[in-house]
Amino acid sequence: MKFKQVLAGVSAIAALMTVSAGVLADGESDYKTACFACHDTGVAGAPKLGDKENWAPRIAQGSDTLHKHAIEGYQGSAGFMPPRGGSALSDDAIMGVVDYMVEKGQ
Ligand code: HEC
Repeated sequence: MKFKQVLAGVSAIAALMTVSAGVLADGESDYKTACFACHDTGVAGAPKLGDKENWAPRIAQGSDTLHKHAIEGYQGSAGFMPPRGGSALSDDAIMGVVDYMVEKGQ
């Protein structure tokens, strides 16, 4: 009986951890606060969210490069991507948003 209670506790904690990891990995809400202004409309040359043709060559660079460009900023041939999109998001949050954008662009 006691063993079963411990097991139930452990799986409850594991479930909680999965939920918070899920939230951290979900860049959608950060995207909506920090990135959509340019990436929803394609303003100033920004690749639009879900524009597969525009994203394909970018995705082909690999996610390390995309993470770096989003965090440090990037001057490409289409326009200027400001460091962190001008936001105060952490590296982890930025990488989460980039992964979200990549997922939508595939
Ligand atoms: C002020 C407008 C603006 C904002 C805000 C902005 N971006 Fe960008 N972003 C750009 C532009 C313009 C480009 C295209 C640069 C080019 O390829 O010439 C770009 C390109 C990118 C790329 C592709 C880089 C590559 O190597 O092709 C990623 C990834 C990206 N942005 C992520 C983000 C994320 C994440 C945010 C929010 C934290 C964000 N952007 C906010 C303008 C913006």
